[in-house]
Amino acid sequence: MSYIPDPDRYDQMRYNRCGNSGILLPALSLGLWHNFGDVDVFENGRRILRRAFDAGVTHFDLANNYGPPPGSAELSFGRMLAGDFRNLRHEMVISTKAGYYMWPGPYGDGGSAKYLISSLEQSLRRMGLDYVDIFYHHRPDPDTPLEETMQALDRLVRDGKALYAGISNYPADQADEAIGILRELGTPCLIHQAKYSMFERRVERGLLDVLENQGVGCIAFSPLAQGLLSDRYLQGIPEGSRAARSDGFLKPEQITDETIRKVHRLNEMANQRGQSLAQMAIAWLLKDSRVTSVLIGASSVTQLEQNLEALNQGRFTADELDQINRLLQ
Ligand SMILES: NC(=O)c1ccc[n+]([C@@H]2O[C@H](COP(=O)([O-])OP(=O)(O)OC[C@H]3O[C@@H](n4cnc5c(N)ncnc54)[C@H](OP(=O)(O)O)[C@@H]3O)[C@@H](O)[C@H]2O)c1
Repeated sequence: MSYIPDPDRYDQMRYNRCGNSGILLPALSLGLWHNFGDVDVFENGRRILRRAFDAGVTHFDLANNYGPPPGSAELSFGRMLAGDFRNLRHEMVISTKAGYYMWPGPYGDGGSAKYLISSLEQSLRRMGLDYVDIFYHHRPDPDTPLEETMQALDRLVRDGKALYAGISNYPADQADEAIGILRELGTPCLIHQAKYSMFERRVERGLLDVLENQGVGCIAFSPLAQGLLSDRYLQGIPEGSRAARSDGFLKPEQITDETIRKVHRLNEMANQRGQSLAQMAIAWLLKDSRVTSVLIGASSVTQLEQNLEALNQGRFTADELDQINRLLQ
């Protein structure tokens, strides 16, 4: 059946300005790292994408290597775009990245201009797009001069292959330097994509300050620590979960007794607040105005809908924030 988006979708979402830029991003964005590869059920991904768009989620995040196999998430997304979103491209912010291993030989990994420029060409072909909205360098490459990597981003923006440039997984000092280089080149850095959740708070030790000072947005990935910050693993590792799947990035050995003890305590607190732990984990990130958007993953429409509800739920008191800090110790 052809897809007709919900006409009220923009009333259901909050949009935040990305740094000092002109662009607004939805408070919740959807990532296609898992659940959209060839190993996944195409129709399930399609339902998730449609539901997200119906809820005002305008931003969809990909990378060259998402799948598995690498590249297949972009191919699936391209099919979904062609089938459902053909006339809606101008209402969507689509991002992709290069920086991790993608193809054999010396040009399929890292931060060289050769890799970034050829990779984006391939990503565009896989998705059937003329341009992406945001193109990221996916991780710092110690063997490539930062100037070369930033020049490649600048060039791709000037060539019209990307509207904005972004960086991901850069520590605070390197982010600061990269943002400075991009500004000098005349292509301001739009956004930094960083791992941030109650379980992963490194960004609080400098990076968020750098981004605020520089007027760069922050999009927080793996807000649920890949599902750990939910009720998913409270009674063990369920079949079909990310930790149970051989292609999942969350490994059973990461689910330690100590982690699960914390999850139980956080879950209790969330329930007392009248929400699920997943919702509390998302709301907790959005309490900081430096976080432009929270970038979730979902393996079902039900998960997506539960996570969207986090946007309508109450704030934290100072006591509650203290309590969370104590529960995390
Ligand atoms: N830049 C980078 O280096 C980088 C790295 C990682 C991710 N990312 C981006 O960030 C996006 C999100 O990352 P992520 O998928 O790790 O995010 P996440 O939101 O922390 O984890 C998503 C997973 O948690 C489970 N889940 C989601 N909602 C749930 C709920 N309400 N109740 C119970 N379980 C729930 C699902 O796993 P099940 O499969 O078990 O159901 C889902 O696939 C990625 O798609 C990607 O776009 C970027």
